[in-house]
Amino acid sequence: MVAERAHDIVVFGATGFTGKLTAEYLANPDCEKLPLLHADASDAASLREVAANTRVVITTVGPYMTYGEPLVAACAETGTDYVDLTGEPEFADLMYVRYQAKAVASGARIIHACGFDSVPHDLGAYFTVQQLPHDRPIHVDGFLRGGGQPSGGTLASALDVLSRTTQTRDAAKQRKKIEPKPSGRRARAVAGKPRRDEIARSWVVPLPTIDPQIVVRSARTLDVYGPDFTYSHYAAIKRLPMLAGGAIGVGALAGLAQIGPVRKRLETLRKPGEGPSEEQRSKSWFTVRFHGTAGDAEVVTEVSGGDPGYGETSKMLAESALCLAFDDLPTRAGQLTPAAAMGDALVDRLRKAGIRFEVLSGKPVNPPSRQVTLR
Ligand SMILES: NC(=O)c1ccc[n+]([C@@H]2O[C@H](COP(=O)([O-])OP(=O)(O)OC[C@H]3O[C@@H](n4cnc5c(N)ncnc54)[C@H](OP(=O)(O)O)[C@@H]3O)[C@@H](O)[C@H]2O)c1
Repeated sequence: MVAERAHDIVVFGATGFTGKLTAEYLANPDCEKLPLLHADASDAASLREVAANTRVVITTVGPYMTYGEPLVAACAETGTDYVDLTGEPEFADLMYVRYQAKAVASGARIIHACGFDSVPHDLGAYFTVQQLPHDRPIHVDGFLRGGGQPSGGTLASALDVLSRTTQTRDAAKQRKKIEPKPSGRRARAVAGKPRRDEIARSWVVPLPTIDPQIVVRSARTLDVYGPDFTYSHYAAIKRLPMLAGGAIGVGALAGLAQIGPVRKRLETLRKPGEGPSEEQRSKSWFTVRFHGTAGDAEVVTEVSGGDPGYGETSKMLAESALCLAFDDLPTRAGQLTPAAAMGDALVDRLRKAGIRFEVLSGKPVNPPSRQVTLR
């Protein structure tokens, strides 16, 4: 951790939809006295200047494949902690390939996916394995349910990811070639099958987001996931027609995103800086239910909260930065997951901030603070 710098936390992208909410979350009356810093994603010197004078940089300047790399480079070079909201696997993989050695050498902690992608999934899986014995293979299924609407930045980033499947695969291959594997332990994502699931109390379908990759990286770093950890990630939907509609919708969007002019038209559906209204956000919610098994031990847990995309995302992002700046954390550097970098400290912060982490059923190894009936 860097001791003496002019700023504890800087929000880069504070004029954007999510950046504004993040700055509001962090704001207190003393902030009036703070300076406004100006930096441009295309001006490396301006980014280096901000990074060198800051302990933790938060960035909401996305799509990250378009704007993100120079800031990661500046933070890796200056030993500055970094958190973002990317859900773009290609970006996380390329940043690992290009800056991991530099970040490890400088002591910078580069933590991607500190919003709804992938904090509830990553910390939820971490919370789940803590309830199970650690001396045998553990399998966890994660089932996501929720409702909400995207902002302009999220729509642009999602279309970017959907249109870059080949590049995403290439970046993953480059990373795989150089990333060390844990010795004597295994952790991997396993594609599940669409089905009716009694634990989720829903129809479930595999969800190919960045989340399973993040969960598995945490499992490779931390012994608590046991000797042989597997994770499967699903969308859970109560009624079958909604599931079919959702699958067709995502498939159609992925196809259309490959066609340049059509993609441009789709991007105009919501412009940069625009997002769901406060009223729409107040009706949004999410739950991620986890079913963990280790031999004959079993547990069902759930992480839940309000508006996943913006209200809770800005909270998760801001609390991650506060956690890096002020909490006592394990000594690790380089690209890290939220669970590997912050684990229990971030779970505690998010619980205090109103996000629920609950054990719903099972016989947990560590008695939970609260048990509730499975619904
Ligand atoms: N699920 C999740 O985890 C989650 C949730 C929410 C958002 N996100 C991601 O967060 C990102 C932001 O989304 P958003 O809707 O908040 O976007 P947005 O409203 O379009 O905001 C983008 C921000 O980037 C700034 N920016 C653009 N170009 C820049 C440049 N060259 N240099 C410096 N700053 C620049 C903009 O500044 P100006 O105002 O000056 O243009 C603005 O502050 C997206 O990638 C989105 O996918 C992820």
